[in-house]
Amino acid sequence: MRIAVVGGGSTYTPELIDGFARLRDTLPVSELVLIDPAAERLEPVAGLARRILAKQGHGATVTATQDLDAGVAGADAVLLQLRVGGQAARQQDETWPLECGCVGQETTGAGGLAKALRTVPVVLGIADRVRRTNPDAWIIDFTNPVGIVTRALLQAGHKAVGLCNMAVNLQRKFAKLLDVAPGEIHLDHYGLNHLTWELGVRLGGPGGADVLPRLLDEHADGFALELRMPRRVLEALGVFPSYYLRYYYAHDEAVQELRTKPSRAEEVAAMERELLRMYRDPALAEKPALLGSRGGAFYSEAAVALAASLLGTASLPGTASLPGTAGEDGGGRPSVQVVNVRNDGTLPFLPDDAVVEVPAEIGRDGAVPLPAPAVGPVQAGLITHVTAYEELALDAALNGGRDRVFKALLAHPLIGQYDRAEALTDRLLAHNREHLAWA
Ligand code: G6P
Ligand code: MN
Repeated sequence: MRIAVVGGGSTYTPELIDGFARLRDTLPVSELVLIDPAAERLEPVAGLARRILAKQGHGATVTATQDLDAGVAGADAVLLQLRVGGQAARQQDETWPLECGCVGQETTGAGGLAKALRTVPVVLGIADRVRRTNPDAWIIDFTNPVGIVTRALLQAGHKAVGLCNMAVNLQRKFAKLLDVAPGEIHLDHYGLNHLTWELGVRLGGPGGADVLPRLLDEHADGFALELRMPRRVLEALGVFPSYYLRYYYAHDEAVQELRTKPSRAEEVAAMERELLRMYRDPALAEKPALLGSRGGAFYSEAAVALAASLLGTASLPGTASLPGTAGEDGGGRPSVQVVNVRNDGTLPFLPDDAVVEVPAEIGRDGAVPLPAPAVGPVQAGLITHVTAYEELALDAALNGGRDRVFKALLAHPLIGQYDRAEALTDRLLAHNREHLAWA
């Protein structure tokens, strides 16, 4: 099995390698190709990758290259984990929206639109090059904003699935609280990428008993503290919101806080410098604990589970059951995983071509969403609103133009007023000209 990683020089890559090593029975990787234009990151990351695999007795070869076409040739799956403009661009996305009283965040609100505009054309360009050498390869997209990027890939006809680590992390979290294996937990996880609610937490699989009411009852104070929302809000919702919902439910409070502390981009940039220093140490041969402080901790579990199911290795007889999946027992039962996929009626209030983040059965032919439970008006309203924004955001990313940017911002539920949308449009364009061919 040959896996190519575009953005392989990311400091996150050792997380992925650690997953490939631990879960080798599920996904037998023989060749790993790390592709990245930044040689200064690629070399130390590839060096550590080789040491991690060697220490764990894994025979896969690791190739590092700046050549995209050569790197993706012959790959069975291509993982996209890139960040156009790096942390410097993220730093911008997280700061200029605050000047207009709006949240500054890498995927939510105006900052997320800037990221989408920079990223969609680059990802589509890469996907086209993958297709030229490799018509059948699966593209697994981790690149944010995952919902919009996945929608762009699917609309262009690519064989692609979008992935985020939030659901596997919640699976682990609830499993720990319930003292069961993560694979025993099925999440009724519904919404859009970074705009989801756990509507149910089921034991044993999709048809299992829903223990969410019990969890909410027993852990209300802990959940409230962690999500930084009042307990009464969680009680009123009666479901478990993703921490990204705080940017909606406590928007103004979040803006006040973001104004008074260093940005996440600055924190992450400092961590990345430290990580790269560690990766250059030839004595290091494991994923450093510091990587656990990144939001993407454990994303490898989601990546391995998804790649294994798409490539058909997960149902090989005798393979171990994955910690991150419900239903996969190695005996050929379909694997259910939370992915970003075309809606096609799953959420009946959304257009078919919207991309939703939902549990789906994954096999060699791709992802087929499970039938969804009823989604209440509190969720459906916001999901519908943000879907409309995402459609306009993709239009702006594909076709450019100040008016399209303005319209997407006007349509965003966190913006909505014309004067704010205008001020944000000015700033978005001023800060992103070097990345936008049309600006
Ligand atoms: C979560 C999200 C990712 C995001 C990450 C940010 O894992 O699912 O999409 O990239 O957080 O983490 P960071 O450590 O970069 O702030
Ligand atoms: Mn994510």
